[in-house]
Amino acid sequence: VADIGKLYAQTGMFTYDPGFTSTASCESKITYIDGDEGVLLYRGYPIEQLAEGGDFMETCYLLLNGELPTPAQKAEFDYRISRHTMVHEQMARFYQGFRRDAHPMAVMVACIGALSAFYHDSIDITDPVQRQVATVRIIAKIPTIAAMAYKYNIGQPFMFPKNDLDYTSNFLRMCFGVPCEEYKVNPVLSRALDRIFILHADHEQNASTSTVRLAGSSGANPFACIAAGIACLWGPAHGGANEAALKMLTEIGHVDNIPKFIAKAKDKNDPFRLMGFGHRVYKNYDPRAKLMAKTCHEVLGELGIKDDPLLDVAVELERIALHDDYFIEKKLYPNIDFYSGITLKAMGFPVSMFTVLFALARTVGWIAQWKEMIEDPHQKIGRPRQLYTGEPCRQYVKISSRG
Ligand code: ACO
Repeated sequence: VADIGKLYAQTGMFTYDPGFTSTASCESKITYIDGDEGVLLYRGYPIEQLAEGGDFMETCYLLLNGELPTPAQKAEFDYRISRHTMVHEQMARFYQGFRRDAHPMAVMVACIGALSAFYHDSIDITDPVQRQVATVRIIAKIPTIAAMAYKYNIGQPFMFPKNDLDYTSNFLRMCFGVPCEEYKVNPVLSRALDRIFILHADHEQNASTSTVRLAGSSGANPFACIAAGIACLWGPAHGGANEAALKMLTEIGHVDNIPKFIAKAKDKNDPFRLMGFGHRVYKNYDPRAKLMAKTCHEVLGELGIKDDPLLDVAVELERIALHDDYFIEKKLYPNIDFYSGITLKAMGFPVSMFTVLFALARTVGWIAQWKEMIEDPHQKIGRPRQLYTGEPCRQYVKISSRG
């Protein structure tokens, strides 16, 4: 131990901060969160106003460029994105290598990473024009790639993008349309999904965004960085939580069973947690959760779902938890994932696609953060320190002399 102490004395001062709860890894002008007040701003605009007033493409433009677009800029941006929605025919063959029951997030990690094998020009990150091209390519192609992952899973033919539709309607059609049949997009559902995309578009330095920045700090190409972000998002403590929340609501099954689950969540000796509750940053109501709850009611209303047992359980669970001393004391409120599972399920998405939809929406935030990092003159390769607790220096013994 004395030797380890000497070692650290030679390597200078550093902070030990597991989970980076008190360490800023970068400066950023993109997203602001006040977790105590329940405030979320994209480029200074409250999430509530963006979700109610605009569309996802406008939010993409804002996150990438720092300002809301004029009508002409918006039209040009929409057009550019719609021109890049197709994927290379070889990419379609790439899917055939997966088992039919492959989790679509596994397919997403692979296919987004594989884009770097198709667009050699876009992997030169030192060229600002190529960075722009890569940005448009990724945002335009990710709905196509995600819809193809879904279609492959269920054994239906891939649907080509239909570029006279808006971004979200096009995605819905690629998921739920079938060739030779006209697919009528329900505008209420399309608007609801578009709003869900806005709510998920960025959330400053969360685990997946930090992963994208760390991967990008070495100069890795943007497709590889986004694939890294998708891999990180897959975890149940992050993007996988909406899947976990829906599973939990199904397991609870009936409002009468709620007290039993609340007791489990409060039991220190039980690892069970209420999925969709609590947040590393929000110690108040997650503003996105309120908008998500509203969207959930709108979608169920549009689909004429009057008595959804899962919604009944969710509403009652929220009501009970918000009045429970344990949850009040620990500042545990519903997060965005609490109502999103019920909403997406009602829209027809299988549980395995929930995190894929999150990844689709978060891609713009990841790219905006990646670009900001690359364009920062003070940018350095990310290299956290560690607190070494292993053996001090010792002498190697040949295997013949061991044991
Ligand atoms: N249910 C019951 N107790 C909880 C919950 C929960 N959902 N969340 C936290 N707690 C308790 C912990 O047991 C801990 O108690 P202690 O102080 O007695 O040890 C205390 O609250 C603090 O918990 P931490 O894990 O230290 O809080 P942290 O900020 O690190 O975790 C997290 C945040 C991971 C989101 C956590 O609240 C959780 O696991 N929630 C459930 C999963 C979930 O919904 N994740 C989605 C996050 S949002 C997103 O990624 C988009």
